Amino acid sequence: MCGIIGYAGHRPALPIIVEGLKSLEYRGYDSAGVAYAQKGRLNVVRSEGKLNVLEKKLERVNALSATCGIGHTRWATHGLPTEKNAHPHIDEEGRLALVHNGIIENYQELKAELQKEGHKFWSDTDTEVLAYLISKGCHLKDTIPEAISWALKQVDGSYAFALIDLKNPGKIWAARNSSPLLLGVGTGENFVASDIPAFLPYTREVIFLEDNQMVEMDANAWQLYDVETLNPLSKKNQHITWDLQAAQKSGYKHFMLKEIFEQPQVIRDCLAGRVDERKGTLVLPELEDMAIPKGLSIVACGTSYHAGLWAKYLIEAWAKIPVQVEIASEFRYRSLVMNKDDLILAISQSGETADTLAGIRIAKEKGVHVLGLCNVVGSSVARESDTVIYTQAGPEISVASTKAMCSQLVLMTLLAYYWGEKKGTLPKEIKEKILPGLLALPKQLKEELPMIRKKAKKLSKEYAWAKNFFYLGRGINFPLALEGALKLKEISYIHAEGYAAGEMKHGPIALIDPEFPTFALALDDFLLPKVKSNLKEVQARGGKIITLTHKGANIQEDDSWVIPRVSGPLSSFFVLPALQLFAYEMAVYLGKDVDQPRNLAKSVTVE
Ligand code: AGP
Repeated sequence: MCGIIGYAGHRPALPIIVEGLKSLEYRGYDSAGVAYAQKGRLNVVRSEGKLNVLEKKLERVNALSATCGIGHTRWATHGLPTEKNAHPHIDEEGRLALVHNGIIENYQELKAELQKEGHKFWSDTDTEVLAYLISKGCHLKDTIPEAISWALKQVDGSYAFALIDLKNPGKIWAARNSSPLLLGVGTGENFVASDIPAFLPYTREVIFLEDNQMVEMDANAWQLYDVETLNPLSKKNQHITWDLQAAQKSGYKHFMLKEIFEQPQVIRDCLAGRVDERKGTLVLPELEDMAIPKGLSIVACGTSYHAGLWAKYLIEAWAKIPVQVEIASEFRYRSLVMNKDDLILAISQSGETADTLAGIRIAKEKGVHVLGLCNVVGSSVARESDTVIYTQAGPEISVASTKAMCSQLVLMTLLAYYWGEKKGTLPKEIKEKILPGLLALPKQLKEELPMIRKKAKKLSKEYAWAKNFFYLGRGINFPLALEGALKLKEISYIHAEGYAAGEMKHGPIALIDPEFPTFALALDDFLLPKVKSNLKEVQARGGKIITLTHKGANIQEDDSWVIPRVSGPLSSFFVLPALQLFAYEMAVYLGKDVDQPRNLAKSVTVE
């Protein structure tokens, strides 16, 4: 998730582009750049780090006469957040400049073909390949729209990009597939951008481009086309009433809610380029040179620790690899006994969590290979791990981690599948159902989320009196119960304990009474009969119970919450947002500051 902007108008373009990028920094902030044509030259200024670094560089640039340009603020996915990988990327002739948000899944193959034709690449990015492809199209076709259409026919993946051409000053072309792209219609000026905040100070007249649509614009006119056929399209403006804050949250009240509703897209982005649908196999180049671990220790904190605990169940069942899951702040101070053939899997959204980093350093001192699984490209965990694989969830602004955990579960499902397939231990049913199931999830979850939220809102109101909550689960639902309790604690400040349902009778059940409700994960799997008997024990002590379950699981508790029935562990992708939304709606109902809970930081970089 990056932020792109394009401006064609009557004002100096760069100040408008930089201001626009500032309001898009929540989409990515690890490097940035702008491009504009002036005096017959294509000018590109890029920088590593936050936007203020770019602004410093632009102070030395006199571009006042440039009234057309493009800009980008990056969230790295392919290629470290360095200046050479920052956007805009230009073609070899220095004629085209392009900014892009999305993932070109088949960029390796396209790059190899272009290299065979003698093209030299400067960056590690997928985006540079797109710029070169369109440039090649310019030699084969008569117009830029034809060149773009030709190039995009060869591209697999998601994209929203904006392009300028030295030979056509004052014009911008932009197109989208899966990544958001909007046209801002002004008077004597027009804008393209990833999101509304980029041009909100100048116009509230917006056209939302659909997939496979392209726009050609200049200061005074714009035209939409179908990317494939180049047929002209017409579309009505929409008038936006949001203020800037709301716009950055795409109209959601909080970043946490926005990020929960981003999970369908996050699943799609995390799978992007990693599942070969035709062959039904996985493409995980990061793991190709890595031996299949004899044993695995997962090291993490908080929500990432819960994701690791969830993955343990899959990796042991599918790949028959013994898995230890370690709380990093304990792991780092223990007298560790490790085998050199073992693998450490360090999970961290931010990649900056001190305890997890310390765990990595200890493991490396003991000569054990470390695989870092994180969301922030180029972060400390990524840099210090021997191998790194990214969750591609985009920037997570809300302190309470939601979409990052979803992406961690997706990626570790792929790891379990990959090692199971390599070892030949993958159960037949999993081999048949899991990849198609994962690919179908984004659409299913997108349809289901509004209903899940509606139920969460209703139940949170009904249980807002509670001062304590138990979360119970068995099997892969035990780690999710822990996560549900953590979410309720960290944003609604209600005391909550996640517990393995079978453990209740060994003590905690003493706490159960009508004032101490239970949130039970009672999915219709082989453990349901066991969970049912645990819930009988709770009910016998007057405890009120919310049960998250499947249709037809025949659960008769106080409040039954039904989620779609999907294959095996994939139900977790509906359980997770239900737990997140219950906590979210409870916090909103209780008037808590959801995005910035008290006493908490987004990444814990101190001891
Ligand atoms: C989760 O909502 C919290 N923000 C916290 O528990 C977090 O998961 C933990 O600090 C680990 O962070 P990391 O994934 O960035 O390492």
